[in-house]
Amino acid sequence: VASTLAAAASDLDTLRAAMSAFELCELKRGARNLVFADGTPGARVMVIGEAPGRDEDRQGLPFVGRAGQLLDRMLSAIGLSRAESVYITNVMPWRPPQNRDPNREEMAMMLPFLKRHVELAAPEILILMGNISCEAVLGKRGITRLRGNWTEVWGKPALPMFHPAYLLRQPAEKRKAWADLLDLNARLTT
Ligand code: URA
Repeated sequence: VASTLAAAASDLDTLRAAMSAFELCELKRGARNLVFADGTPGARVMVIGEAPGRDEDRQGLPFVGRAGQLLDRMLSAIGLSRAESVYITNVMPWRPPQNRDPNREEMAMMLPFLKRHVELAAPEILILMGNISCEAVLGKRGITRLRGNWTEVWGKPALPMFHPAYLLRQPAEKRKAWADLLDLNARLTT
């Protein structure tokens, strides 16, 4: 069902409308807002996060809480910003209750919308932020091993990275995130 609706969406506004009218995912019922995307559609870099938290659910925008502020600082360290050069979405557009992880069924149900979202936003490079994004898109967990290793998703180069929420809890891992940002920057500038 989601794949038919997603395929029928011919631009980002139509896709947003199709997702906001989609009633089959349980998570919609507990959420205040659809969290669709933020940043610059058509940017070279597209970040795929996990799911909205409380702040995102309230504002209807991805990565606006503490993790989002760290994400913005990480991006700006290599000269990127939502305003100009990054487009941001999540695997799940609705906040799960108590911020639990979305489960496999929920992710599988919503995946066709994400795939279409990537097609329509047409980035050159995908950043998979954290385990949930890797699980949804690559079918694999284990971000500690996956991060920093370029892979391919839907025909595009994709870089798994530590999630900024994880970096807030494990600041010593920021060093590895920095290495990944430099690698991303090298791809963008060479
Ligand atoms: N974490 C995410 O993965 N996405 C958000 O939008 C906010 C926090």
